[in-house]
Amino acid sequence: MLSMKLSNILAMGLVATTQAIPTNRNQPKKQPNFVYIMTDDQDLTMNSPAYMPHVQASIKDKGTFFANHFVTTALCCPSRVSLLTGKQAHNTNVTNVSPPWGGYPKFIERGFNEDFLPVWLQNAGYNTYYTGKLMNAHSIDNYNAPHVEGFNGSDFLLDPYTYSYYNSTYQRNHDPPVSYEGDHTTVVTAEKTLGFLEDALASDRPFFLATCPIAPHANIEPNALAADGDTLMTAAIPESKYEHLFEDVRIPRTDNFNPKDSTGANWIKTLPLQNQTIVDYEDHYYRQRLRSLQGVDNLVNALIERLESSGQLENTYIIFTSDNGYHIGQHRMAPGKSTGFEEDIRVPFFIRGPGVPGGRVDNTVTTHIDLAPTFFELAGIPLREDFDGTPMRVAEESRGVVHEHVTVEYWGSAPVEGEFASVASPLGTKRNTYKSIRILGEGYNLYYSVWCSNEHELYNLATDPYEIQNLYPGQSTNTTSTDPHLFNRDLSTLIPRLDALLMVLKSCKGSTCLKPWDVLHPGGFVQSLSDAMDEQYDRFYEEQPKVSYSKCEQGYIIGSEGAQDVLNWEAWA
Ligand SMILES: *[C@@H]1O[C@H](CO)[C@@H](O)[C@H](O)[C@H]1NC(C)=O
Ligand SMILES: *[C@@H]1O[C@H](CO)[C@@H](O)[C@H](O)[C@H]1NC(C)=O
Ligand SMILES: *[C@@H]1O[C@H](CO)[C@@H](O)[C@H](O)[C@H]1NC(C)=O
Ligand SMILES: *[C@@H]1O[C@H](CO)[C@@H](O)[C@H](O)[C@H]1NC(C)=O
Ligand SMILES: *[C@@H]1O[C@H](CO)[C@@H](O)[C@H](O)[C@H]1NC(C)=O
Repeated sequence: MLSMKLSNILAMGLVATTQAIPTNRNQPKKQPNFVYIMTDDQDLTMNSPAYMPHVQASIKDKGTFFANHFVTTALCCPSRVSLLTGKQAHNTNVTNVSPPWGGYPKFIERGFNEDFLPVWLQNAGYNTYYTGKLMNAHSIDNYNAPHVEGFNGSDFLLDPYTYSYYNSTYQRNHDPPVSYEGDHTTVVTAEKTLGFLEDALASDRPFFLATCPIAPHANIEPNALAADGDTLMTAAIPESKYEHLFEDVRIPRTDNFNPKDSTGANWIKTLPLQNQTIVDYEDHYYRQRLRSLQGVDNLVNALIERLESSGQLENTYIIFTSDNGYHIGQHRMAPGKSTGFEEDIRVPFFIRGPGVPGGRVDNTVTTHIDLAPTFFELAGIPLREDFDGTPMRVAEESRGVVHEHVTVEYWGSAPVEGEFASVASPLGTKRNTYKSIRILGEGYNLYYSVWCSNEHELYNLATDPYEIQNLYPGQSTNTTSTDPHLFNRDLSTLIPRLDALLMVLKSCKGSTCLKPWDVLHPGGFVQSLSDAMDEQYDRFYEEQPKVSYSKCEQGYIIGSEGAQDVLNWEAWA
C-alpha cells in the first residue's frame, strides 16, 4: 500500500486530499523488486530490439539503455553461469555447454548450486522465481540430481526439448517433467511467468523474478541431425499469428555482411563467399527471429501491466537483455555466436526502475558479470570479495568501478547453425579457442585478440566499426592498409601494451579484473591504456612475456595457455 502511487490512492478515495500520506519512519524502506527478462541469442547490432515495441516504449524509453554492454563469453551456458556468479568464465571454469567443460553437471560439480545469485538474494530476504531456460545440459535425466537451489518457484525448460518451439518440456519445483507438445514455448513461458508474478505479489517480501524464453534461438528437434552428423539447428519458429510479419525486412547490409574479401582470422578467414541461395535463407532466418520475438514483447507488456495494477511498478527494476549476441552472414559466417566480433559480444541492455532516469543512453562499458554486483548494490547487500564485476551506474549513487575494458574469452568449438551450416563449417570451427579485449576509452575504440593458433587481430573500431581491417602486422590481406597512428605513436608501441593488459585479464581474479593496470603499475599512476602509452614505459612493455598458446584445447587447460604472469613496473624499473 505504501508504495502505491499517490494518484492511485487519491483516486480510490482512501485519503482526504488535505491529509498527509502517513509514513512510518521506523520501518526500513522495502528493498526493490527485480524483474529480469533474458532472451536467448538476441543480437543488438542487427537491430532486433527495434522490432519489439513494448520493450522500446516500456523499458528502454522509460529507463536507461546501456549502449556499451558486453558479454564476456559469447555462448549460452558460460555466459549465464558468469552472470549468475559475477565471475569470468576462467574463474568458474564453466566454459562450454556440456561436460566435462560446462553445462549443468559442471555447474553442480563446481559448487555453484549453493553459491549463486538466487541463493544470495534469498539470504538477503528476497523471494526468487525463475522460468524458461536456466542453462545447457540441464535435462530430463539430471534435473533432480540435485534440483536447482535458490528459487521459491521455478519452472525450467529441460534438454533435449529446450529449443523445440512446439514440443518443449518444463519441470516445475520438485515435480516431474511435463511435455507441452503442440503449445508454443513462448506462450507457455509467458503463462508461467505471470503465474510466478502473482505468487511474488502475494508476499510482503521483495522479489526477484527471472524469465528466460528461448526466442530467438534456433529451433532444435531432439533427434534431427544435419548432413555432417551435428545437431540440426533451424530457424526460430514464431507463433502462427506472427508468421507473415516483416516480409520486406532483410539483415542490415553492413560492410562486413558477406564481404567480397574474406576477413578475420583462423577459420573465419577461410570461409567462402556466400551465394544468393544462402543469403536469401539468412534473410528468412533473420525474419523468423524477429517474428519469434513478438511473443516475448507481449510477455513484457503483460508483466508491466500487472506490475502497474499491483502498485509495485515504481518499486521494481525491470531489465531486458540477452545471454549473448548473434551473427548472420557477417564476415561470411553462417548463423551463430561464439566469436569476439561485435555481433556476438554486444547485447541489448535496457533497465528501468526507481531512480533510473528515463530516455537516457549510458555509454560506460558494462558486462554481464557486472549484473550480480548491480543487483547487490540496488538491494543494499554488501558486495562479495570474489566478484570479478562491479555495479553498473544504474542510479546516481552507484559506487561501481568505471572500467574501459571487457575481457572476452572462449574455449572449444564454434557452433554453426542453420540449414547451410555444414557448407560453412570448416574443420577450424573446432578450434575456436581465443582470448581478447574490447577497450573503449577517451579517443580510442579497439579490439585485440590472440587465437589458440597464435594468430592475432587488432581492429580500430573508431575508423573501422565493422572490424574488417586487421591492423596486426603481417595478418592483413590488405596491403594498402596504413598504420592508424593511434595515440600519435607507432602501432609497434601499442600492441605490447594491449598484450600485457590481456595477459593480466586472462587470469584476473576479483579486483584485478576491474583494475588490471594496478598489477602492471602497482603505484597506481597508470589507470588506462592512454596512461600506459607514455614513452617512458616502452621498454618495460617490449620486455613483457607475450600471450600465446601451445595447443588448441577444448577447455581451460592452463598448461596450454602460455605465460601467465606479467612483469611489474616497480620491480622492473
Ligand atoms: C522463499 O524461500 C526462502 C528460503 O527458503 C524462505 O525463507 C521464504 O520463506 C520463502 N518465501 C515464501 C513466500 O515461501
Ligand atoms: C515431444 O516430447 C515428448 C517428450 O517430452 C516425446 O515423448 C514426444 O515423442 C515428442 N514429440 C515429437 C513429435 O517429437
Ligand atoms: C548455393 O550453395 C548451396 C550450398 O552449397 C547450394 O545448395 C545452392 O544450390 C547454391 N545456390 C546457387 C544459386 O548457386
Ligand atoms: C585497404 O585499406 C585501405 C586503408 O585503410 C582502405 O581504404 C581500403 O578500403 C582497404 N581495402 C580493402 C579491399 O579492404
Ligand atoms: C577446468 O575443467 C577441466 C575439465 O574438468 C579441467 O581439465 C581443467 O583442469 C580445469 N581448469 C582449471 C584451471 O581448473
